[in-house]
Amino acid sequence: MTQTEKTLAHYAVIRSLERSPQTFKQLLESCHSLFPDQLASLLGEMEANHLVRRDGEEYALDGSIPNRWRRLYTDWNENLDRAYTSLSAIMGRIHLPHCLDYEWWFTHSGREKVAELLIHNNPLPTPESVVFLGSPLFGAFASALLPESKIYILDKSDATLGTIKKDVDSERVHLIHYDAEESLPQELVGSADMVFFDPPWYVDYYDLFLRRSMQLSYGRYATVAFVLFPLLTRPTSLQERKRVFEIAMSYGLSLVSMETHVAHYYTPQFERETLVRRGIEAKNWRRGDLAMFISDGTRLPENIALRVEEGQWRELIVGKVKVKVRVKDENPDIYIAPELLDFADGHVALPTVSRRDPIRKEIDLWTSTQRGFKIKGWRAIWKIVEGIRDNLSFEEIFESIRREYPNATIPELEKSAVEKVWRELRSHFGG
Ligand SMILES: C[S@@+](CC[C@H](N)C(=O)[O-])C[C@H]1O[C@@H](n2cnc3c(N)ncnc32)[C@H](O)[C@@H]1O
Repeated sequence: MTQTEKTLAHYAVIRSLERSPQTFKQLLESCHSLFPDQLASLLGEMEANHLVRRDGEEYALDGSIPNRWRRLYTDWNENLDRAYTSLSAIMGRIHLPHCLDYEWWFTHSGREKVAELLIHNNPLPTPESVVFLGSPLFGAFASALLPESKIYILDKSDATLGTIKKDVDSERVHLIHYDAEESLPQELVGSADMVFFDPPWYVDYYDLFLRRSMQLSYGRYATVAFVLFPLLTRPTSLQERKRVFEIAMSYGLSLVSMETHVAHYYTPQFERETLVRRGIEAKNWRRGDLAMFISDGTRLPENIALRVEEGQWRELIVGKVKVKVRVKDENPDIYIAPELLDFADGHVALPTVSRRDPIRKEIDLWTSTQRGFKIKGWRAIWKIVEGIRDNLSFEEIFESIRREYPNATIPELEKSAVEKVWRELRSHFGG
């Protein structure tokens, strides 16, 4: 019997028996209320096909079937220590999360809780391959708890993947720079027994990430799990949650479990800054729900690119600050003097983290400390940010700007405009 000929009931029996040998009565309890006569004939057939062995009253998994649960379970506490050590190291190095990239990281306890539910409540056998999409730190953590699974961590942030690299098992854990708005690399289609994602909390992102999950898990029974925004996230959350479920159903997914408030998040600095502006000091209050579905692997959505975000940005990490600069259409032969323009009320800490706030469209330079500016002369500003990152002197930065415009003459008196921007940006980057 091949993998593809197995039914969901076969997987339910394998999943139960990989944990321990069981009697018929115990299997009836653990196999999702499979009808007794169906279970009896299934066990007979599995015995004949050397998937299970019968020893007196007890059924056990045949030795030819890989049992990834055994080591996972036996080494759980040791692996958990390892996962905490890795994540502490990663958290110590990683850049400050950025609002524009929706970088809300889980707390240590949130990570442990979600990993435990995902792995222990999985209705299918322990996965051979797992994809973590848009959940890079969680993927790094969970990879230590799944010692016999192949792990793929897909994320659009190169900076995050670079930070994780040193602390994951490079033989088993594959870090892939991938923006879900692009079509999925063909070699990843049908690669996952389990997909987990934690997207930005907007319906169009859920639709996009669900599409990619269906592609990733095509051709097999698979677990698809994600964090869902809670009931009161926004005034329209109830309707939006309903929409997410409708989309999941339209992709043929079946809900197997929902756990509320288990995904606990750190409040990132950018969000704390917006709250402080309103006089609120808040602890880590955000929590998400964990929704777990099963897919029968029959739906393969079209592998097309889909735009969700507007605008194009370049980013740099300066110290720990992520700086994003909007790419503007500038003639490379015409020098435009750099200039930073504050927002109307003179506050540089942006008042919002909402994607729907119209202020977003006006911001051209945005830091993970929630400083935002309109800018003029983006190419010169980009060179200034690069220079600050590379610890260049002001003179060196000015020369690098001149080199950026080989066909334009930039007179010495332009220096003062450049220096003003350089000084101001340095003060915001902590330089
Ligand atoms: C809400 S955070 C989830 C992080 C997760 N809680 C953790 O601790 O690992 C969203 C993640 O999705 C990533 N992301 C946002 N848009 C994406 C896209 N279009 N494609 C891939 N990743 C994306 C971000 O870089 C970020 O890592």
